[in-house]
Amino acid sequence: MTANAARKIVQFPTAQGRNIITIASGKGGVGKTWFATTLAHALARHGERVLLIDGDLGLANVDVQLGVTPQWDLSAVLSGRVRLSQAILPYDAGGFDILAGRSGSGVLSTAGREKLLGLRNAINKISGRYDRVLLDLGAGIDATVRLLMGGHGTILAITTSEPTALTDAYAFIKVARMKYPNADVRLVVNNATTVQDGKRTYATLASACRNFLKIDLPLAGIVLNDRHVREAIVHQAPILTRHPTTPASVSVETLCRRLRE
Ligand SMILES: Nc1ncnc2c1ncn2[C@@H]1O[C@H](COP(=O)(O)OP(=O)(O)O)[C@@H](O)[C@H]1O
Ligand SMILES: [Mg+2]
Repeated sequence: MTANAARKIVQFPTAQGRNIITIASGKGGVGKTWFATTLAHALARHGERVLLIDGDLGLANVDVQLGVTPQWDLSAVLSGRVRLSQAILPYDAGGFDILAGRSGSGVLSTAGREKLLGLRNAINKISGRYDRVLLDLGAGIDATVRLLMGGHGTILAITTSEPTALTDAYAFIKVARMKYPNADVRLVVNNATTVQDGKRTYATLASACRNFLKIDLPLAGIVLNDRHVREAIVHQAPILTRHPTTPASVSVETLCRRLRE
């Protein structure tokens, strides 16, 4: 084996998964799935090869938000019926690929540790074929979320300004950092009434993280409240196509550009 070939083999595992962006929140209903699909679309519009994975094993809904009917989903992957790569389908309207989850599937929400770790490894491996892989996780901080989260790449914790969302985001960040001390965790404030309001929410959480967890919490971005979000979801169409210049679209586009810097 040449020295170059040996170096490649040594370097490959450490690089795997670094391009994964995990989207998580603690609390449900804060906009994770909508944000994940919109960020996937924004990255694809910048020419990136993107895979969006619906990792909400209990209440999956990426496919519903985008109005697609996948033949295979994560439950088929977890039960060994198909390989992960076979369950991926192109979402032509957005120019990115998706891997659907499955709502209400017992197979998914009760999958054991070994299966979940196997799934995470398969995700790390497939990430080599893409510029970016987005993993939309379910709410909460249970074992499934902790195992799927992984320690590579970037973790975007999402909150709104509601106190319940803030405390759940704090709990999530605490658990994520305990499990993965070197994790790159950043905050997204969603559904902010104004940028000022979003900054206040960020400042509150950043100061709790500094004081009690002794960590810096960078701000990934602030996404404004926008009635077009709901309208696009109702029409199962990407907001960046339907309403490219409204506040939420512009916010995600700005956040996307900062992520790519
Ligand atoms: N920036 C926003 N402006 C207005 N409504 C939003 C915004 N983000 C999310 N929503 C609303 O919140 C709802 C829940 O979003 P969803 O992505 O399903 O949350 P989660 O995946 O965290 O459970 C959406 O159906 C949408 O109506
Ligand atoms: Mg969701």
